[in-house]
Amino acid sequence: MKNTVMTFKEAKARGERLTMLTAYDYSTAKLMDESGINGILVGDSLGMVMLGYEDTLSVTMEDMIHHTACVARAAKNALVVGDMPFMSYQTSIYDAVYNAGRLMKEGRCQAVKLEGGASVCPQIKAITEASIPVMAHLGLTPQSVNAFGGFKVQGKDEDAARRLIEEAKAVEKAGAFSIVLECIPAKLAEIITRSVNIPTIGIGAGKHCDGQILVYQDMLGMFSNLKPKFVKQFAKVGDLMKDAFASYIKETQEGTFPEEEHSFKISDDVISKLY
Ligand code: KIV
Repeated sequence: MKNTVMTFKEAKARGERLTMLTAYDYSTAKLMDESGINGILVGDSLGMVMLGYEDTLSVTMEDMIHHTACVARAAKNALVVGDMPFMSYQTSIYDAVYNAGRLMKEGRCQAVKLEGGASVCPQIKAITEASIPVMAHLGLTPQSVNAFGGFKVQGKDEDAARRLIEEAKAVEKAGAFSIVLECIPAKLAEIITRSVNIPTIGIGAGKHCDGQILVYQDMLGMFSNLKPKFVKQFAKVGDLMKDAFASYIKETQEGTFPEEEHSFKISDDVISKLY
């Protein structure tokens, strides 16, 4: 059954944990969808794990629409959330609604995500009022990497922790249907999770969130540029891929691939006429 924003709401009410992963292409999203994931985020982490940038800042609306559409074609059951890239919503409420609309119309996602708290509540309200569900994102918000001075754990002192609790309540009031909590202390995430009625989806925010999300290349051991403490490698797919690539190179060079079973036949009659 298709997961919707209502599924997310009901899961929190029932105390059922939500599962999300990122994906950026059709084949990977299809495998996730078939595995029973609740939601797929087409994150702007795309910029780092797929496009090779050092941060997420250069990702464009065109990049996000293109990859969101690939994932949406695969996701029969998972809720697809498209990430709003840097400067697609910060500049004005008009830009926010316009770009969220593009992500939904052209990318065919069922919700959008944007980073920030009180400062983007007018955008969350306006997008929600345009019937586009919004997932908020608090804590370590990677689009603010330059303001934070690096990828650092957020909310560690009293003021910062209180601010995050207030920001969570503010985004809920503005209409967000859920909140990603990234890289904050587990006990703070627990308090935030209890303080709001919408589900919290944690990444580096401990086990008391209502759900979890990971970047799929991280959890499959396919991306070695960064190794955040919160990532668990559920499989070493990167090593498997390298082994397979090496075998292909070796067999091709040795002439043991392709074999007859990988080749197409033609009748000897036709061949004899070609000489
Ligand atoms: O862009 C992304 O992948 C994200 C997740 C890490 C939550 O925002």
